[in-house]
Amino acid sequence: MAQTPTPEDAERPDVEAAGAAGAGTAPEPRRTRTRAAKPVAPADAADAAASPADEPSPADAPVGEAPAPRPRRASRPRAATASTAATDGPAPGDPPAAEAGAPQARRASPPRTAKPATEAAAAQSSGPVDRGGAWAVVGAGPHGLSALKALLQHGIDADGFERESDVGGNWNFGAENSRVYESTHLISSKPFTQFPDFPMPDSYPDYPSHRQVKEYFGRYADHFGLRHRIRFRSDVVKAEPVDGGARWDVTVRDRDSAAEATYRYSGLVVSNGHNWNPKIPQYPGLEEFGGQVIHSADYKGADIVRGRRVLVVGAGNTGCDVAVESAQNASHTWHSTRRGYYYNPKFAIGRPSDQVADSLLAMRLPLPVRRVLFGATLKLTVGDLTKFGLQKPDHKFFETHPIVNQQLVYYVGHGDITPMRDIERFDETGAVFQDGSRADVDLVVFCTGYLVTFPFLDEQWLNWSGDHPQLFLQMFTPSYDNLVVSGLIQPDSGQWTLAHWQGVLAARVAEALRDRPFAARGFLSRAQSEAGRRFSAGTHYKDSTRHYFEVAHQDYLQALQDAIHELERAA
Ligand SMILES: Cc1cc2nc3c(=O)[nH]c(=O)nc-3n(C[C@H](O)[C@H](O)[C@H](O)COP(=O)(O)OP(=O)(O)OC[C@H]3O[C@@H](n4cnc5c(N)ncnc54)[C@H](O)[C@@H]3O)c2cc1C
Ligand SMILES: NC(=O)c1ccc[n+]([C@@H]2O[C@H](COP(=O)([O-])OP(=O)(O)OC[C@H]3O[C@@H](n4cnc5c(N)ncnc54)[C@H](OP(=O)(O)O)[C@@H]3O)[C@@H](O)[C@H]2O)c1
Repeated sequence: MAQTPTPEDAERPDVEAAGAAGAGTAPEPRRTRTRAAKPVAPADAADAAASPADEPSPADAPVGEAPAPRPRRASRPRAATASTAATDGPAPGDPPAAEAGAPQARRASPPRTAKPATEAAAAQSSGPVDRGGAWAVVGAGPHGLSALKALLQHGIDADGFERESDVGGNWNFGAENSRVYESTHLISSKPFTQFPDFPMPDSYPDYPSHRQVKEYFGRYADHFGLRHRIRFRSDVVKAEPVDGGARWDVTVRDRDSAAEATYRYSGLVVSNGHNWNPKIPQYPGLEEFGGQVIHSADYKGADIVRGRRVLVVGAGNTGCDVAVESAQNASHTWHSTRRGYYYNPKFAIGRPSDQVADSLLAMRLPLPVRRVLFGATLKLTVGDLTKFGLQKPDHKFFETHPIVNQQLVYYVGHGDITPMRDIERFDETGAVFQDGSRADVDLVVFCTGYLVTFPFLDEQWLNWSGDHPQLFLQMFTPSYDNLVVSGLIQPDSGQWTLAHWQGVLAARVAEALRDRPFAARGFLSRAQSEAGRRFSAGTHYKDSTRHYFEVAHQDYLQALQDAIHELERAA
């Protein structure tokens, strides 16, 4: 039997990950012919690793088999019956049993012979189309794809909804919510970014381009038979709990016909991404500024900076990339940051630097020792940043989301980028900075990050704390057991390994809610008390909106692994 990669496998570089997928070196992702799946009894579903849906999805297409490396074998789930389910625990959204005085009746999952959810059925029906035990997944970026795949593999029928015409999310260059630009390459290296059960091709470089990444997601969707389960060009405009939270009504608008239909699901996975809604700072005088102002959300390539005087604001990875590209094309570039940063190289000692960093982690070196080693490496290579006119970092290593950019300091050293302090105000012709200096510019590019938004969901259900949700394991809300968010993380490493395991955890929870509601409830009862738990590996992240969802990948992977194990043990 093929062994499912564990989170530890996912941490290993290329060769071992490829080995887990059944080859000596990382192979081309396998292509597998999609064929209609036979209905599979829920008890056998995880073992068969097939997509066992027994009714057509809104995509109205045959169900593809998902011939993935098998999920870890689950114990045979206890079949849910109306009577066992009804006495197992309170319904989602009901008050805790202690408050309610007695265990609440939990709704059993409706039988899996529910009506088809085709568009035609939706049009004819007066109410929502009942999708029975199926779950809905919003978004077909890497998190939506891996959640959809995991649900199907674990015997949970599921439908995906994607507003664009293709999969890939942020990596679907040119799509409305995509924020990659022409020159974007990964900053996390291939083996530390890819899905653990689907290695990137050997022919890809260490840091693939956005085009290669998009192609990779397309292959992933094909390989696991996901496209047929996704309804494209379909905007989820509303999702709301019904039946006391036991089900979710998901209203979808067809982007071509504007027709709306509502489907009723047993659960909802939200994977709409959090890197798309521009965060635009306000400054005195900005309205009087006569030049052009854009946010990096609208920065698609160098054309807009060519030959102009450009002010780039912010030094996340976007700000550094845009400043470098501007240095190569603009007449001059000013780069304003409100603090100093560490500019990590993409390569160190001939290897992708994240791989070198993880070797130190694997040696279990304590955080202070790793900080000293990082500092020494940067001192030896780049040297003292203040000698270039850059600000001294006001924080220790790992306290801000890592910048991976080998070229910024180079262009500062060439005089093509002038580092500036935080902006104090704008006037008609340019900006005045906090040290009193000024720059007259034609274009301002705010690379100031993104705000988290769920336009189709009432935010109160996501345990909002101030301006962001606080979720147990970054995924689960105290409000509803059957509402899962996948993707609300910003790791200090590649993301799709974590997306994979978030998907597995979501599927395990869905499976437990259906088959072992008492165990599911036990697990999810921590959603309130552990909502504030951070996965920072002992680091105190700098106070900034962009660190709300920052996770140290090794810590978070461990937490996901523990949670999955807990649910598997209860099976
Ligand atoms: C410029 C840039 C570079 C990055 N580089 C890296 C990197 O090197 N390594 C890394 O690991 N991560 C990187 N990231 C982080 C990146 O966001 C994640 O890799 C990943 O794309 C997040 O996946 P997701 O599925 O959560 O969201 P997304 O990729 O944003 O996908 C969300 C999907 O949901 C769809 N959607 C949204 N709302 C709706 C709706 N209402 N109805 C239907 N569909 C909807 C969108 O159309 C989209 O397809 C980068 C981010 C940016 C902005
Ligand atoms: N693969 C790639 O090449 C690549 C490229 C771009 C982005 N990304 C990823 O995409 C995600 C988003 O990155 P991002 O760079 O767009 O956003 P980001 O990481 O949120 O960075 C925003 C930057 O703007 C600054 N900032 C925010 N608000 C400000 C304000 N009001 N005034 C002045 N400065 C302000 C922040 O400063 P503070 O330090 O004070 O917060 C930070 O320097 C990250 O996960 C990143 O790694 C990857």
